[in-house]
Amino acid sequence: MALLEAIGIAKSFGGIHALSELSLRVEAGEAVGLVGPNGAGKTTLFNCLNGVERPDTGTVIFAGHRIDGLPIHRRARLGIGRTFQRLELFSGLTVRDHLLVAERVRRGGGRMRVWRDLLDMGGPTAQEQAGVDRTLDLLGLVPVAETVVDALTLGQGRLVELGRALAGEPLLLMLDEPSSGLDTSEASELAGVLNKVRHDSGTAILLVEHDMDMVHQVVSRLYVLDLGHLIAEGDIDKVLADPKVRSAYLGQEV
Ligand SMILES: Nc1ncnc2c1ncn2[C@@H]1O[C@H](COP(=O)(O)OP(=O)(O)OP(=O)(O)O)[C@@H](O)[C@H]1O
Ligand SMILES: [Mg+2]
Repeated sequence: MALLEAIGIAKSFGGIHALSELSLRVEAGEAVGLVGPNGAGKTTLFNCLNGVERPDTGTVIFAGHRIDGLPIHRRARLGIGRTFQRLELFSGLTVRDHLLVAERVRRGGGRMRVWRDLLDMGGPTAQEQAGVDRTLDLLGLVPVAETVVDALTLGQGRLVELGRALAGEPLLLMLDEPSSGLDTSEASELAGVLNKVRHDSGTAILLVEHDMDMVHQVVSRLYVLDLGHLIAEGDIDKVLADPKVRSAYLGQEV
């Protein structure tokens, strides 16, 4: 059984068919790429998979559960971690604060826990601290753990975003253009971190990315979207040699 199986996903916004009957699967521990020109529907598909949007039709099965009717936090607790195209960090909070909040949200803790937090009686638990320390170590963020995020480089900020998505040890990590704004060497370093995460934790990766070097470094299988349709899928080198794919990318380097 696949870790993630999306079948017949369609989503329209007014008259725009952002996604047309799209199906996709990711095996446990697999790294899969999702590429396509601007407006192809990549972010919309991510939104339908993690619960930001409800698809108009289609089924999403994750780790044996049908999830397409579940809210975002329930999908997150089942093991879907996600980063966003735009960096969303909280000014004035440290790197450690960001990761702690993510740990708590991801692991949940029931109604009593929420009340304790509201009454400000709930400091970090040993389990939360341990989770945060593991993530800081994995991402090489230990030296900046107590630094406020405003003082970080963009590359470090992207790692914090990745760390938040890794809270609670997800089974699947969905990344929406993680190399955006990074230079070549930072993007390559980030690819190395993703490979390490997958290797060490067995986390499956679904990567949306325009930087083909990075895609090559991380994934072996690729889906190509164009105007809401899946136009190719399979082994990365075979797919990129496909004339349909080359013409969808006309004017762009593949
Ligand atoms: N909330 C929305 N309301 C209306 N139209 C939307 C909405 N979200 C996406 N769209 C449209 O759906 C289509 C797919 O957009 P989407 O953001 O999924 O593309 P993308 O592949 O992520 O593009 P990019 O590479 O630029 O991030 C586009 O035509 C977009 O304008
Ligand atoms: Mg997008």
